[in-house]
Amino acid sequence: MFGPKSHLTSRNNHLFMEDVDCFLLARQLGTPLYVTSEKRLRQNIRAYHQAFPKADKYFAVKANGNLTILRIAAQEGMGADVFSAGELSIARNVGIPQDMILYNGNSKSEKDHEMALQAGVRMSVDSREELEHLAGTVQRLDQDHEAEILFRVNPDVSPKTHPKIATGLRSSKFGIPAEQVAETYKRAMDLPGILPVGLHCHIGSQILDTAPFAEAAGKMMDIAAAVVGAGGEIKRIDLGGGLGIQYHPDTPAPSPADLAKAVLPIFGDRCRDLGISPKLILEPGRSIVADTTIMLSGVNVVKRAHVNFVAEDAGFNVLARPMLYDSYHHIIVANKSDEPAAEPYTVVGPICETGDILAKDRQLPKLERGDVLAFLDAGGYGFSMASQYNGQPRPAEILVSGDKADVTRRAEDASALLAGQKIPERLYWQIE
Ligand code: LLP
Repeated sequence: MFGPKSHLTSRNNHLFMEDVDCFLLARQLGTPLYVTSEKRLRQNIRAYHQAFPKADKYFAVKANGNLTILRIAAQEGMGADVFSAGELSIARNVGIPQDMILYNGNSKSEKDHEMALQAGVRMSVDSREELEHLAGTVQRLDQDHEAEILFRVNPDVSPKTHPKIATGLRSSKFGIPAEQVAETYKRAMDLPGILPVGLHCHIGSQILDTAPFAEAAGKMMDIAAAVVGAGGEIKRIDLGGGLGIQYHPDTPAPSPADLAKAVLPIFGDRCRDLGISPKLILEPGRSIVADTTIMLSGVNVVKRAHVNFVAEDAGFNVLARPMLYDSYHHIIVANKSDEPAAEPYTVVGPICETGDILAKDRQLPKLERGDVLAFLDAGGYGFSMASQYNGQPRPAEILVSGDKADVTRRAEDASALLAGQKIPERLYWQIE
């Protein structure tokens, strides 16, 4: 049932993460709760280093912005892909060196450019238009070093994933059309204070087949050839993230080693042909962090109605993926982890919307109030997409290491819902 997820085991009918009893942890700290295995996180990062020993790996901060998780990623030698000024400050806060940060984004303001320039991080420029905007800010700031940039390319590759997370299609909002790249690169070479150093793409997320990555690598090398032909120098090629993970027991995912087998020969051969030796960069998010983390929720009501509804305390406010992308998250009952499935349940949260369904017709052991459900693979785009909708404070995050469990982010309380709000004084009159 747990497959290769060695950090999760079943002991005497209870789910354990490393040596921590998840049911007791939920009892102690309350639910909902995000719980991460340090061991698994380090294993996942090391698997990337092993598969791509020469590449730089930038963790996609959007997948998980927990400072402790990022600190471990930094200790393990990862840089950061950031997509906003907020993500940049998170990455800087955990000590990721500026040389290992790429500031991405398709809609950067002047202030965003300024912040990235002042932080001295590289930027990925998404359009010809953005290049001109950036050039203006560079002139104004008049720094004593050049601003290094990559160009985000639209490689027009179909990644065979959920349409909402396919990012490299011709019709997608990201990147510069392939045929405009060489000319845009040349323009950047002529602009004072700007140094174009490479190309960047990202074709989508949760991709379960390595063929689209190979196709994208080939197209990126075609574009690199055009840039070199136009007199440009390519020092970095960033192939983005996107490697999928095994959410469903029957849907295996390729490993970083499989990804390496698909793209490294293309990258290596084509670089040799062109006589260039750029640094390869990858930006994995989900495949680093998703399976490190479970989300624990507590069962409030088991209702026998049209179907068997299990109402628990985490809805799409805590884990948005099922609602947004019809995603599957495997469920283990943390206090019945050895019990066989008894009947189908539709697992719903506490949010006042019919679509607040985390799992449909799921075969689970017989459930009752007080049980604790563990949603697996919740570490990528889990907490980072959580909201306070319906007056729900966001949950705590825990890091497990051996038999230790540390709170890395305390749960919000109701005061978080009031924070920052101010009623204008003119409305202070007494309500009868
Ligand atoms: N680099 C760039 C430029 C990206 O846009 C993304 C993800 C990544 C790297 C990391 O991709 P990963 O390795 O995690 O697949 N919320 C969605 C996923 C959105 C992904 C957006 N971009 C979900 O929950 O499935």
